[in-house]
Amino acid sequence: MNTLVEQDARPTAFGTPYVQENPSEFRVSTSAYGDPKVFEAELEKIFYSTWIYLGHESEIANNGDFKSTWIGMQPVILVRDGDGNITALLNACTHRGGNLCREEKGNTRTFVCPYHGWAYKTSGELLAIPAAERYPDDFDTAKLAMVKVPRVAAYGGMIFGSFNAEVESLDDYLGDAKRHIDIWNARRAGGTYRAGTAHKYAYHGNWKFQSENVYDGYHAGFTHRSAFNTFRKFEGLFRNRHYGAVREDGATRGMRGGHGSLELNKPLDSGQIDPAIRQHYLDALERLNGKEMVDEILRNRHVLLFPSVIIMDFNIRVVQPRAFNRTEVYSYPMLIDGIPEEITAQRLNDVQTRVGTAGIVGADDIDVFNGNQTSLQALGAKWFTLSRGLGKEQILDNDQRVGGFSDETPQRAFWRQWDKLMSANSRGEGA
Ligand code: FES
Ligand SMILES: [Fe+2]
Repeated sequence: MNTLVEQDARPTAFGTPYVQENPSEFRVSTSAYGDPKVFEAELEKIFYSTWIYLGHESEIANNGDFKSTWIGMQPVILVRDGDGNITALLNACTHRGGNLCREEKGNTRTFVCPYHGWAYKTSGELLAIPAAERYPDDFDTAKLAMVKVPRVAAYGGMIFGSFNAEVESLDDYLGDAKRHIDIWNARRAGGTYRAGTAHKYAYHGNWKFQSENVYDGYHAGFTHRSAFNTFRKFEGLFRNRHYGAVREDGATRGMRGGHGSLELNKPLDSGQIDPAIRQHYLDALERLNGKEMVDEILRNRHVLLFPSVIIMDFNIRVVQPRAFNRTEVYSYPMLIDGIPEEITAQRLNDVQTRVGTAGIVGADDIDVFNGNQTSLQALGAKWFTLSRGLGKEQILDNDQRVGGFSDETPQRAFWRQWDKLMSANSRGEGA
């Protein structure tokens, strides 16, 4: 049974009433962003049914390292336990619901509840109950371990968890997107990624506005026009920054599973790095990956791994829904240990000035997302159209589609997967 609310104009050929596609139009109901009931269904059918990103291995490098995070609305602790195993635990005391871990990250031997002091090992087992003698003699504490997220797996240093014990393997889930993770990892040039402290921001709007935006090549010349004009003004500091309103200097890609990318024809901007240092980095890339791969590795690309984690330049950006109309975003600059420090410093500078919370570009997008949510209150606006490039894409193996730089190809891949999961009857089905 489809638990979603019915809506007029539902075509029988489609999974949910929210996504409609025919050869000349692809449209999405505004209710998919603005209806709290849809958000409830998304939690169940997407966030609690499939793989959700929890963190990068470098965030829990040592035994006892932990990080507080979320799967959907559920608080989770990602931890490397005392034996070095990576595990994910519900951040909830099994006594009477105390919020066990209130730190964003840290290192510990135990999680101690702030309410009545129950203590748990980092592997989740209950270690000690204060004044335990008042419990029945045969009281079974083995059952009172912290609840584990049933599936945890990693690919290329990125750790994911799933509440769905039957979910497909992470490898299958990521599918063709794995190639983009591999390329992103190749940029380390033999070094090691280390997640920096996250830049955080929030907006009053649906989470999908951020997910859909990261590979939107259409908006940049409009939304970021004033930012780009500012860059031009400081041309000496920011090179290669000349944009027309609608750019066509790259491609978009939609992949099976809802993943997608925006790929520019030019390399990631290297800013004002000493050419000798830059060359040293390029030489290492060539030595490790072969000459023909260097351009591909350096190509500026933004990738969304469905539904809510983004690899963007050197950042991992996590989209965290808080309500149907409220979203938090955590952007982790990924520093590279083992390559010239100047390159890492330049990338960090790029995050801070351009795409971080106070970055000159990032703030533009947030303002648009807030505005989009306001528009949803216009009841007459029932549909959004995502038809740009429809029927003009190149279709590759495995249903991979490549569109023009400003096409809505990856957004359509997102919505096809969304529709598939949302029309599944129960957890896991249709994944
Ligand atoms: S709620 Fe955690 S010890 Fe009581
Ligand atoms: Fe943008």
